[in-house]
Amino acid sequence: MLVFKSVSALQNHINKLISERKIIGFVPTMGALHAGHLSLVEKSLLENDCTIVSVFVNPTQFNNSNDLNTYPSNIIRDKKLLQSLDNEIVLFHPNSKEIYSGELKSDHFDFDNLDQHMEGKYREGHFQGVATVVNKLLLIVKSDKIYFGEKDFQQLRIIENLVVAKKFNTKVIRCNTIRQDDGLALSSRNNKLDISSKKTAKYLFKALSFAKENFDTLDITNIEEKVNRLLAKFPQIKLDYFVIADERYLQPTLKRDKKKKYRAFIAADISGVRLIDNIKLY
Ligand code: PAF
Repeated sequence: MLVFKSVSALQNHINKLISERKIIGFVPTMGALHAGHLSLVEKSLLENDCTIVSVFVNPTQFNNSNDLNTYPSNIIRDKKLLQSLDNEIVLFHPNSKEIYSGELKSDHFDFDNLDQHMEGKYREGHFQGVATVVNKLLLIVKSDKIYFGEKDFQQLRIIENLVVAKKFNTKVIRCNTIRQDDGLALSSRNNKLDISSKKTAKYLFKALSFAKENFDTLDITNIEEKVNRLLAKFPQIKLDYFVIADERYLQPTLKRDKKKKYRAFIAADISGVRLIDNIKLY
């Protein structure tokens, strides 16, 4: 497997691929790969001539230094996992200086209010950091397609917005959330959950499933009340938000409009580990 640590070496390789008219798929990650990431890589392998995976823990998207310092990482395991899928995958594993040659800070982007609620409200500067690194990575990788999981749906919409605003010639591919048998969405942060928190974490998915099952018959206020009551039974769960918002503009609502598509979004701290998830309601 080809592994690049420097931007210039990767770019030389990419220029060669472009001159050979190869179609490039790109899967940006922060490592600690799990089956969710691997499903994006597998999709890219099927849809492109060449797949590039980046592993870079982006400091500017962490609004909490403890969260950054404890973010799981295991590059040896990540490499093995990628190799087990396909030895032709190209891995880009730069350090911070390669990506942020100057100051380690975010650029400023306008997301047309997509960052107004939910994670944008609870994690100040988070999406500016995500957009900064994805913008930098896309300028380097120039892929035909870029793959994102729907688990981070607000991030996905913000990247879709960025790609249009910056006129990147790349197609954003939405990929389904991969879940454990009990419904818990796969996330690198799940590694930080102890056994009892792991059992409790499935109630986030139960809350989302309740919303999906009752969206046609109960009004949104009623759904929110019932979800709050369900989750209040678990002292380990500290709910940041449970909201129903339209899929396009990500504006939470209490009144549904038949012409719009909705999702339920949830974020909670479970014994010190912050998890997010969402489900489509159509
Ligand atoms: O979703 C992630 O893993 C990160 O936010 C991303 C898109 C790789 C940017 O650092």
